[in-house]
Amino acid sequence: MSSTSLTLTCIARRADTHDVTSWQFASLTGDLPAVLAGQCITLHTEIDGKLQCRAYTLSSSPQDACWQVTIKDVGLVSHHLHQSLQVGGEIRADGPFGDFHLTALPCERPLLLSAGSGITPMWAMLRDELARRPEADIRFIHSARSPEDVIFAGELAALAEAHPGVRHALVLEQAPAAHPWVGRLSPDMLKELAPDLLSRHVYLCGPAPYMTAVCTMLTALGLPAGQLHQESFGLPEAPPVATDSNHFWLTLKKSGKKVKILPGQTLLAALEGAGETMMAACRAGVCGACRCSTTGIIERQSVMTLSAQDLENGVALACSCTAKGDVSLDY
Ligand SMILES: Cc1cc2nc3c(=O)[nH]c(=O)nc-3n(C[C@H](O)[C@H](O)[C@H](O)COP(=O)(O)OP(=O)(O)OC[C@H]3O[C@@H](n4cnc5c(N)ncnc54)[C@H](O)[C@@H]3O)c2cc1C
Ligand code: FES
Repeated sequence: MSSTSLTLTCIARRADTHDVTSWQFASLTGDLPAVLAGQCITLHTEIDGKLQCRAYTLSSSPQDACWQVTIKDVGLVSHHLHQSLQVGGEIRADGPFGDFHLTALPCERPLLLSAGSGITPMWAMLRDELARRPEADIRFIHSARSPEDVIFAGELAALAEAHPGVRHALVLEQAPAAHPWVGRLSPDMLKELAPDLLSRHVYLCGPAPYMTAVCTMLTALGLPAGQLHQESFGLPEAPPVATDSNHFWLTLKKSGKKVKILPGQTLLAALEGAGETMMAACRAGVCGACRCSTTGIIERQSVMTLSAQDLENGVALACSCTAKGDVSLDY
């Protein structure tokens, strides 16, 4: 895993909406590592004496002098950061990580689709792309609950105004009467807002239920799988409930302890369910923090950060790996 660990100093903090805040950071020790627009970092913080790590996309673009993260207050770590991380504060970060960026992916005429805080990689990519190709033909459809929930609303409107190639639309569940796109994103809206959808590459990011619904829509509309690139912020859907007798065994090499694992359950979920502690940050197969060594038949849902040699040697990401038989595990 080629990532950097660094201490960041918070140099600015701004409320974007009633429950979303952006923090800007400089590196305590000097320069910030190079980053591709759309990549994320993991932030490390201690809550009640326990280390907690989460992944956050950099909403800044690579041209910016500082890093920025934009975080919705939804749970344990995000709430703690909202309460405690102030200007002048320091925080440990690892990264940047991730393959969700336009630099390596096809980007001639992108269609960006996001919901809620899933706007963060889109915002970074949009600004980065326009810095390099000011005339770029980009469609951007963002979904939010209400006008008050739209992150970067003013900046987005100003950017679209300054770049005629950018066409953006806000799909709002609750909106003033004059708003044209009300409800949840639907196939009809997609066809109207991006009539040339099938000739574009689509970049999709948001909470898991939004991702599932939009993926189904895009497939039904005929978008080839190779033209869809996505990153989910939520945990994967819970696996189908299996009967307790229908399980395999995970054997922990160091202690010899045996832990039950159900079909479809990740190695990480099985370990945590049995009270074991394992380092994990993004829980989405992006950062490599939960890297472990396995023997047995496994199925990897993500191979990010793993080399060909790792795959040959049974190295896996516990947060994104399921068992297909009994497995021995070292970490
Ligand atoms: C690659 C990656 C990039 C991410 N980038 C961002 C980002 O730029 N901004 C951001 O706010 N979050 C981002 N997240 C989500 C973030 O890592 C945390 O999962 C989130 O802050 C919730 O953690 P918590 O400890 O506060 O909540 P927990 O107590 O761990 O969980 C609370 C619940 O919130 C749900 N949840 C998680 N994220 C969201 C969300 N964004 N909106 C609504 N519900 C959510 C979870 O499914 C869970 O049920 C990203 C996640 C990944 C994997
Ligand atoms: S916790 Fe990040 S890859 Fe598993």
